[in-house]
Amino acid sequence: MIPKNFPALPDFPAGEVWLAGAGPGDPRLLTVLALHAIGQADDIVHDALVDRRVLDLRGDGAELISAGKRGGRPSSQQRDINDVLIERARAGRRVLRLKGGDPFVFGRGWDEASALTEAGVRFRIIPGLTAGLAGAALAGIPATSRDTNHAVVLAAGHRAEEGGTADWAALARLGQPIVLYMPMSQLAEIAASLQQGGLSPATPAALIQSAATDQERVVESSLGNLVDDAARHGVGSPSIVVIGATAGLRRHLLGSLVGWR
Ligand SMILES: C[S@@+](CC[C@H](N)C(=O)[O-])C[C@H]1O[C@@H](n2cnc3c(N)ncnc32)[C@H](O)[C@@H]1O
Repeated sequence: MIPKNFPALPDFPAGEVWLAGAGPGDPRLLTVLALHAIGQADDIVHDALVDRRVLDLRGDGAELISAGKRGGRPSSQQRDINDVLIERARAGRRVLRLKGGDPFVFGRGWDEASALTEAGVRFRIIPGLTAGLAGAALAGIPATSRDTNHAVVLAAGHRAEEGGTADWAALARLGQPIVLYMPMSQLAEIAASLQQGGLSPATPAALIQSAATDQERVVESSLGNLVDDAARHGVGSPSIVVIGATAGLRRHLLGSLVGWR
């Protein structure tokens, strides 16, 4: 499947940790390096959001270790995960730390890379397609377009992530599209704060649940109707929410956009 002139893929040495992103869901959205790593690893320490079909690509005898749960992770649990990575690497295992999306986008990848550095464990980082950009793209929502925006904000809706709550009014004043990760628990507060910050209730918005999975669905909305539409359609986790002009571009593509599956 990989063309002959493709660059050589690196060996996965015993005692190393590879910190990889699995993309938003469907295994076909894995990077070549991530797929290679999944096939080579002795131990795969994975998050809840990593799609089962991705885990099923592991090599014979590879051990699966489930780490993390959806919706906020206490720091003690993060320490436990760090310890597992370090202990297994020191035992000479080839340890794949596999995260949904990209490990460095709201994925605690930095915490783990820092812990590995402190412990003197060698590691490699393999980026992945982040849900907020890839999930939106699959739904026909560009991160940027020349007609609408020159910047895009990735923001965590969940308070516990990335050190607390964002300054939503300040983000509203930027006038650039906002992609919310972990949006559901604070959606009403965020929508209200963005409007208090000056965004019109008519600002286009879209909710994308379970992007790149068989359960994927997209709900088009507006900032003013976001909370009601989320409730009416029973939108749950995992979802991203796009708020801004890019969310309104999707409808122009629907006549020709072929379902990605
Ligand atoms: C802890 S963050 C991890 C983000 C991940 N590192 C990334 O780059 O996509 C978890 C949040 O990512 C978003 N997410 C991850 N996978 C998703 C998917 N397949 N569809 C929609 N949102 C997803 C949701 O907002 C979810 O609450």
